[in-house]
Amino acid sequence: MSEKILLQNIKTLWQVRENGSNPILGLDMKNCPHIQNAYLEIEHGKFTGYGAMDDFEGDLDSFDEILDLKNRMVFPTFVDSHTHLTFASTREGEFEDRINGLTYHEIAEKGGGILNSAYKTQQATEDELYQDASYRLERLIQMGTGAIEIKSGYGLSVDAELKLLRVIKRLKKEFPIPIKATFLGAHAIPKEYKEDREGYIDLIIQEMLPKIAEENLADYIDVFCETNYFTAEETDRILKAGAEHGLKAKIHVNQFTSIGGIETAVNNKAISVDHLEELSDEEIEVLAKHPDTIPTLLPSCSFFLQIPYGPARKMMNSNLPVALATDYNPGSTPSGNMQFIWSLACIQMKMTPQEALNAISVNSAAAMEVLDDVGSITIGKRASFIVSDEIPSLTYIPYSFGENNIHMVFINGIVWHQKKHGTL
Ligand code: NIG
Ligand code: FE
Repeated sequence: MSEKILLQNIKTLWQVRENGSNPILGLDMKNCPHIQNAYLEIEHGKFTGYGAMDDFEGDLDSFDEILDLKNRMVFPTFVDSHTHLTFASTREGEFEDRINGLTYHEIAEKGGGILNSAYKTQQATEDELYQDASYRLERLIQMGTGAIEIKSGYGLSVDAELKLLRVIKRLKKEFPIPIKATFLGAHAIPKEYKEDREGYIDLIIQEMLPKIAEENLADYIDVFCETNYFTAEETDRILKAGAEHGLKAKIHVNQFTSIGGIETAVNNKAISVDHLEELSDEEIEVLAKHPDTIPTLLPSCSFFLQIPYGPARKMMNSNLPVALATDYNPGSTPSGNMQFIWSLACIQMKMTPQEALNAISVNSAAAMEVLDDVGSITIGKRASFIVSDEIPSLTYIPYSFGENNIHMVFINGIVWHQKKHGTL
């Protein structure tokens, strides 16, 4: 694809923001700014101009390529700010166990769950893990994801955690999209430390963190703050140790129970708090006082585990800048499809299509600190965007759940993926 590109006759250009650098607070989320019958200009992989077709004054000869979008819509690529993309093998067996009546906790107690993934991840080579993760990432980009956060956490030993983080580092090098790496050594207490949780926390703090810092392998630190996993006090200690090595917090909290993790997170200036299926009114008030901590809901985890959905409406009514992400992982969310997140947000959490679009672009970009680069159609940001199929409305996307309504994905101004049918 050539260097200076003009897209003409865009039915609607969505998420256009002159200043795209702030998260959108809950009460403003209902408005997603857009331009009807629009054009869009790209140069050297960045957005350089946009507007209504009627106002276009550029010199057509100055463009290397002109595309007539024939009434398709355009919006920024999705930002998936919470995934566990690097893991060794899938867990369909547990899926069947749940069909047969076992709960997520019962499966974990009999050695399944995170420990099952950790065992397999420890056996895998870095190369195998990279091949699997890069294949998954390729598919996610085809489905419209243009920036992603990836956690370790299926290693649970010094070597295996470092191995996972090195895989993420390699993905950062090989893929031309923003990727953030999160160290999640505190995902579960490994079997060998069952009777010695302090020993494992020491291992995280004394051995894993210094090595990760030395190799510059992570941007964030995460803890699964949950009953049977890590207490709020342990979370606090681990986050503080991470901060000493320059890692900001992004934590798993309030998935099944509320054990004080929200307070711990905001006291540690967490960038995001994720899950929030069990969130009290008091905790919403705490979050409202800390708008720099982005509350992130993961509705496909609720869908898959059949647990409650986070209280999106209440959170937006309290003006929280709600973000949405997939939580892609082999145990609770074996899907990284952001279009499905969009549908679940509307169908199950009663977010409007525009609120949900704000949550999967601008706010999720804020939840992984890439909002200066992606998340909106803003001059100077990366020209990473989605061209829709010829669909009747924006609402059609969440409405037609499970369908793929994406015609093309552009990454940095270059076509990454294009459907064969109806090629432009
Ligand atoms: O975010 N909740 C903790 N971790 C993952 C699931 C882990 C697993 O079951 O493998 C999550 O849902
Ligand atoms: Fe998760």
